[in-house]
Amino acid sequence: MEIITSVEEMSEWSRECALNLKSLGLVPTMGYLHEGHLSLVRKAISENDRVVASIFVNPTQFGRNEDFGVYPRDPGGDCAKLEASGVDALFTPDAETMYGAGYETFVEVQHLSLPLCGQTRPDHFRGVATVVLKLFNIIEPTRAYFGCKDYQQLQVIKKMVRDLNVRTEVIGCPTVREPDGLAMSSRNSYLSPSQRKRAVCLYEGLRKAQALFMTHETDVEKYIRVIAETISIESGTNPEYIRLVDPDTLRDLSAVHGPALAILAVRIGQTRLIDNALMS
Ligand code: PAF
Repeated sequence: MEIITSVEEMSEWSRECALNLKSLGLVPTMGYLHEGHLSLVRKAISENDRVVASIFVNPTQFGRNEDFGVYPRDPGGDCAKLEASGVDALFTPDAETMYGAGYETFVEVQHLSLPLCGQTRPDHFRGVATVVLKLFNIIEPTRAYFGCKDYQQLQVIKKMVRDLNVRTEVIGCPTVREPDGLAMSSRNSYLSPSQRKRAVCLYEGLRKAQALFMTHETDVEKYIRVIAETISIESGTNPEYIRLVDPDTLRDLSAVHGPALAILAVRIGQTRLIDNALMS
């Protein structure tokens, strides 16, 4: 696996692929890789001639009081995992390379960035859209792979690609879960053993919403109540939002008469976890 840190070298490597008519898959990450990331890598390898993974803890998607400084990092372990998975190149630029002195250009997907996580993380999706577009421009991948756990992020990126005529195909991949159902996330490492046990309540709440959907329940409040009750059984859990939305527009549903997305963000102690369940 080649390890590339400069934009010029990365672009050159990708150009070589294109000249040889090789399709190129990209798995963008912020590192501290887990089985969720590796499932994206495996899908990318199965669908492309060459695969690049990127590791960049993107400062522009963190708010002032968020966890940028303490975001978990394991460059050695990540390299070993990517190499063992069969990735061809790792792009791992530093912040100066991505946002040099005088940097001032940002991409904003206006409406999709506003609700849900956008309410408490106002600049988050602008940072995500900007760094992902930069990666797409540097690497020019045929396809790029993102997890559905970050559902709003996936919708924002898909919209940006459509609106700005980017030629990369964006592929959403299923959430990978721990045996008890907790969605895999690098931030799970912040949880103490007792918080980790309690964190399964997010998944349990979503499962109860799914069970309600199977009964053809149309009342949105019933879904939200069953999720909220399941989460509040555990002590020290603090829901930031629990919503039932249209899976495409992310607008609140007034009643359930078709596909619905149950989506939530919950704080357990200081740790903010997100999850969702698509019901159709
Ligand atoms: O999902 C992530 O890990 C990040 O938001 C991404 C897409 C790599 C952009 O920094």
